[in-house]
Amino acid sequence: MTENTLAHFCKRYRYTGQVLAGAYSPELKKSLSQAIVHLEGLGKIGSPIIPYIAAWRAEGGHIWYEYTGPRLHRLLGTKTAALSDAVRTNIITRYLYKTHKNPPSVDRIIRDRQQLDRMRDALRRRAERGGAVEAVYEFDVNGKPLWLKDLARIESHERDGIVLSYGSLINVTKEMRLEERLFELQGELSFHKDNLELLVAERTKDLRQAQLDVVRRLAQAAACRDGDTGSHIKRLSRYCAILGRSAGLSKKANWILFHAVPMHDIGKLGIDDSILRKPGPLSFQEFEVIKSHCQVGAELLQESSSSLLQVARSIALTHHERWDGSGYPQGLARLQIPLASRITSICDVFDALTSERPYKPAWRFEDAVHEVKRLKNIYFDPKLVDLFEKNIPKIKRVCQSPL
Ligand SMILES: [Fe+2]
Ligand SMILES: [Fe+2]
Repeated sequence: MTENTLAHFCKRYRYTGQVLAGAYSPELKKSLSQAIVHLEGLGKIGSPIIPYIAAWRAEGGHIWYEYTGPRLHRLLGTKTAALSDAVRTNIITRYLYKTHKNPPSVDRIIRDRQQLDRMRDALRRRAERGGAVEAVYEFDVNGKPLWLKDLARIESHERDGIVLSYGSLINVTKEMRLEERLFELQGELSFHKDNLELLVAERTKDLRQAQLDVVRRLAQAAACRDGDTGSHIKRLSRYCAILGRSAGLSKKANWILFHAVPMHDIGKLGIDDSILRKPGPLSFQEFEVIKSHCQVGAELLQESSSSLLQVARSIALTHHERWDGSGYPQGLARLQIPLASRITSICDVFDALTSERPYKPAWRFEDAVHEVKRLKNIYFDPKLVDLFEKNIPKIKRVCQSPL
């Protein structure tokens, strides 16, 4: 290229680079000038891509531009000569860097200027090795963010000691704004989700508490009709929980047993006072009415989806069944009787024995234990009686604790 041709070229393509006028090989100069002509043509047909050719010396130093389309200057508000400085100083907070090699890409997000300055040379070396670079830069243009996505092919010209980067920039400010808004919204969403989960957990707890409250009051109402002030069902729950745990019930199953057992006599709500509170001995017919409290209780508690009420129903129906089959209402025997009811019947009888009633004084603790043992295999599941015996110290503590 003669001096005249070069001057013409510089004017026509706003060329302010160093290669065409420098001591570089004719092949490099030729391919570079052809590329510039080609890229200028792209700009004229209105391509949204903003092309550029950047260069740096293989041994290091500042990057400069061999070619930049006019749109880049308009976007950054600068002239070609000042472009590399503008790029260097205006890149802010974020720089997504991806080299293309095998494995295909390495992603890196550089979030501040210091980190970017520290890594600039290393990134350049990696680009030279990878042969291509994909990056997104955020610029500060007069206080406003400008995001440019860059796809560049890196060519190392070892003979000339120079590296050229043929890049295409695309303005992705709108997309990045959307991405940032999306990020913000995701943050807000997860905040609301956390709040909602807390609220649901609180409401669920409230509901469960309300359910337990209703159940407890109902059980209390039934117990009151029987002349009990509530201490029987409280102790019963605690005895059953000791025995349930010892029999291997899970924590949850034992929790259900604890709260279900107070409802065992809920069917007494349906028994006439004249029979329920009769001081003297009951006639055969009257006792038959009393026995119906199991069925009445089961009906009161039936068709609930709550596992608590389902267990309560089962206990209400079968807590007077006996191990030898002589109980009521169905005459179930041995393992036909649900475990919860086998546990309940031992504890119910034991507490009845150790409690004072209008028609009898309270039995001594040891006498009541003896009675439970005597009824092993008759009324009660022998294995549960063994467990009852094993837990005497705990049972005693409950028996003697004021409620
Ligand atoms: Fe009962
Ligand atoms: Fe009872």
